[in-house]
Amino acid sequence: MAFIRFTPLAAVLAFSLAHCAPVAEPLLSELSNTSYGPIPGQSPLYSTYSGTAPPFPGNITGAIVNTTAGPPGEDDLLFQNLLSAEWVIFSFYQQGVERFNSTDFIEAGLPNTTYERIQQIRDNEAGHLRIFQDQISTNSVKPGPCQYVYPFEDPISYIALQTVIEISSMAFLTGLELQAKLTLSKAALVAIAATESRHNTWSLIDNWKSTPFAGPADTVYPYANQILDFTNEWVVNGSCPLENPIYPTPRQNLPQITPGAGTTAITPGSTIVFNFTQPDNQPHFTPDQDYYAVFFHGVYNISVPFNTTTYSAVIPPQIEPLGIIIAVVADEEGAPTKESVLAGTLILPQSPAALAASGV
Ligand SMILES: *[C@@H]1O[C@H](CO)[C@@H](O)[C@H](O)[C@H]1NC(C)=O
Ligand SMILES: *[C@@H]1O[C@H](CO)[C@@H](O)[C@H](O)[C@H]1NC(C)=O
Ligand SMILES: *[C@@H]1O[C@H](CO)[C@@H](O)[C@H](O)[C@H]1NC(C)=O
Ligand SMILES: *[C@@H]1O[C@H](CO)[C@@H](O)[C@H](O)[C@H]1NC(C)=O
Ligand SMILES: *[C@@H]1O[C@H](CO)[C@@H](O)[C@H](O)[C@H]1NC(C)=O
Ligand SMILES: *[C@@H]1O[C@H](CO)[C@@H](O)[C@H](O)[C@H]1NC(C)=O
Ligand SMILES: *[C@@H]1O[C@H](CO)[C@@H](O)[C@H](O)[C@H]1NC(C)=O
Ligand SMILES: *[C@@H]1O[C@H](CO)[C@@H](O)[C@H](O)[C@H]1NC(C)=O
Ligand SMILES: *[C@@H]1O[C@H](CO)[C@@H](O)[C@H](O)[C@H]1NC(C)=O
Repeated sequence: MAFIRFTPLAAVLAFSLAHCAPVAEPLLSELSNTSYGPIPGQSPLYSTYSGTAPPFPGNITGAIVNTTAGPPGEDDLLFQNLLSAEWVIFSFYQQGVERFNSTDFIEAGLPNTTYERIQQIRDNEAGHLRIFQDQISTNSVKPGPCQYVYPFEDPISYIALQTVIEISSMAFLTGLELQAKLTLSKAALVAIAATESRHNTWSLIDNWKSTPFAGPADTVYPYANQILDFTNEWVVNGSCPLENPIYPTPRQNLPQITPGAGTTAITPGSTIVFNFTQPDNQPHFTPDQDYYAVFFHGVYNISVPFNTTTYSAVIPPQIEPLGIIIAVVADEEGAPTKESVLAGTLILPQSPAALAASGV
């Protein structure tokens, strides 16, 4: 498991697009009744269901339309964004359950419990779907699932992506805390983040045989929607229910970054070359203006000059190589506003070390 390569997205897309179902019609509004169906924390469905078919509400195919008219609830927008993100995460696990079996993981050198754990995490994520649906008032649409294509091809690249998704979700959940208006929403977000952290800790210990810890604090990134936007890469264009709001709202649609040719490593002290991968979505740099690569780790950030000729920067060597580093390009030191961010987010996993070597 020393070096992991992800399948190029285009190749996966070519395979999967042939298997797409049409966009589904909107759902019956009875689903907006929070007493409808199994209740998270009261039903084993969301913990120990071991079937291959998607558990409720992961088996629905459209958006749940609003049943009342009026102003949205105070945190409706937050939970609409989070529910759309949760569909990305739930579907990742559901696809893993459908694509692999217990033997596949064992033959890849992973523990004989891995498949069962993936099923259980899938169940937890179904519970999150329902919890977030319930948090959105009946005045607002509850977004439904799109079709997703993820860059994994085998059990090992699947587990690698699992680790990146879980630790990234910690980062956007902390960011969403800053948007939450209701105290109860904040508490719910902490409870969800703790669950995602357990998923990640399990994988670090059992699959990676690595340190379960990320240092004293996971990484906080304040502009959560920018991380959510990065997951749009896995959403098949035009596959979302028409009732879904734009994901995320508001969407800056910033240029996305990957480590480009010339990157020595993605660990502290290394030179990283920023590749802005979308030809039709490139950042614009003005000559004689200063730009910064801003690296977020733990609860702090460190800015270094960004060279607009070489698109390169040195990852601050004082950062501890644990958890994740989130890098963005900004036109102000410390990226003090979301508008000061010109490109990103780039997620740089530091632990397990095998993931850092992969340059995800
Ligand atoms: C919501 O569902 C519960 C349980 O099925 C039912 O008892 C209740 O009447 C429903 N409420 C509404 C407003 O339909
Ligand atoms: C989804 O699952 C629930 C609970 O198992 C079931 O009642 C419902 O009929 C299913 N819905 C669909 C669309 O399959
Ligand atoms: C749903 O929301 C829309 C837009 O606010 C509104 O026009 C519509 O009447 C609402 N639907 C119901 C059933 O109240
Ligand atoms: C697991 O899936 C593989 C194909 O990936 C298949 O060859 C094997 O028979 C399956 N094993 C079980 C126990 O279903
Ligand atoms: C699963 O693996 C553990 C530890 O490697 C072993 O003790 C146990 O017997 C295995 N279980 C099965 C059902 O193969
Ligand atoms: C999806 O659509 C956007 C713009 O609408 C386009 O830039 C992008 O290349 C499309 N992606 C795929 C995978 O077709
Ligand atoms: C940047 O990414 C694109 C798309 O993945 C790739 O074709 C190109 O070779 C990369 N360029 C560098 C300098 O890494
Ligand atoms: C950027 O890199 C180029 C090539 O190495 C170098 O000539 C230039 O001085 C650098 N610019 C800054 C602002 O450091
Ligand atoms: C980055 O850190 C600086 C101070 O060290 C702070 O002023 C700034 O707000 C931080 N940026 C973000 C986006 O939190």
